[in-house]
Amino acid sequence: MFRTVEKQAVVMQEAQRLYGLLRNVSKTKAEKWSLDDCIAAAPYTLSINRFKQEQNAVILAHSYTTPDLVYGVADFRGDSYELALKARESSADTIVFAGVWFMAETAKIINPSKQVLIPAGKAGCSLADSLTGEQVRALRAKHPGVPALCYINSSAEVKAACDACVTSGNVFDIAQKMPGDELIFVPDMLMAENLSIELKRRGTPKKIIADGGSCCVHDKFRPGDVERLRKDYPSIRVLAHPECAPEVCALCDYVGSTKGMASYVAASKDKIFGLLTEQGLVNRLEAEHPDKQFVWPFGMCAYMKKNSLINTLEVLVEPRAEQIVKVDETIAAKARKSIEKMFELAQ
Ligand code: 13P
Ligand code: SF4
Repeated sequence: MFRTVEKQAVVMQEAQRLYGLLRNVSKTKAEKWSLDDCIAAAPYTLSINRFKQEQNAVILAHSYTTPDLVYGVADFRGDSYELALKARESSADTIVFAGVWFMAETAKIINPSKQVLIPAGKAGCSLADSLTGEQVRALRAKHPGVPALCYINSSAEVKAACDACVTSGNVFDIAQKMPGDELIFVPDMLMAENLSIELKRRGTPKKIIADGGSCCVHDKFRPGDVERLRKDYPSIRVLAHPECAPEVCALCDYVGSTKGMASYVAASKDKIFGLLTEQGLVNRLEAEHPDKQFVWPFGMCAYMKKNSLINTLEVLVEPRAEQIVKVDETIAAKARKSIEKMFELAQ
């Protein structure tokens, strides 16, 4: 860890000088960045990349964080599954996770000897915060013998109480592999409904016993949003995340993880896409497909947006206590089994 007092002072001075400029960098809607935005971000980007090298640190950024992180300093960008895999494979001493708490916590659980830092501090997630380990244990006691899956958007305690965890990219395939005709699924009630529908469609129906909440970003989309997109742009392809309500998903051309949506766009010959997901993915797709048009009704995750260039530099210089990820080893050992089971079943 970088500790020279003089160097820290220089970096923090640089941070303060740039703070005013950088406030203009966080956009509230999906729009292309100006050259001025990039010039404002550049000195920060250079400092972060230098400290990262000095400390043998790797930066993993979820696609919902802002482009200054995704393109300026991240070594890897992707969805929850890809980032968990990268964390598992990494040979770095320090993992800086620009995402939300459950993602950084997952990285720490599978890398107990590494330092894992999260610039955003205790950035929650409406799904991960919706259910406790105790509630899962109570649900399992009511349904003895029924296997239990948890979405990766859950706390270490919830993972520890389940047989395996899943991500939006592998939930349907892993659920299909679970034994029996009943399945406990937590903590996304809307994904649980989508899971039930998809398993029926595949001819392998299961009774899904669900508990938890919903994503405060994706649960806002309504069938009317899809209908409006189709009316305004007749040739549009509408893509949604499986955290959206089933009545919304039913009207879309594709439902999948953030990586799934990105792959769909890359493979498609169509030119216009409606995105029922978070702003960060819209920014990414706009940057990566300048020949295509993206229509985004709304949807921003305040938790993801707590990550910035400023607090990323901060964690590399002197992390605050709430930016250092720690997990109780007894819980971590059980949660690790559930995460490793996912890697095994996702093969
Ligand atoms: P993905 O794994 O599809 O990126 O989803 C993460 C998430 O939090 C979606 O809201
Ligand atoms: Fe959680 Fe929703 Fe934010 Fe994803 S978008 S991190 S599910 S609150």
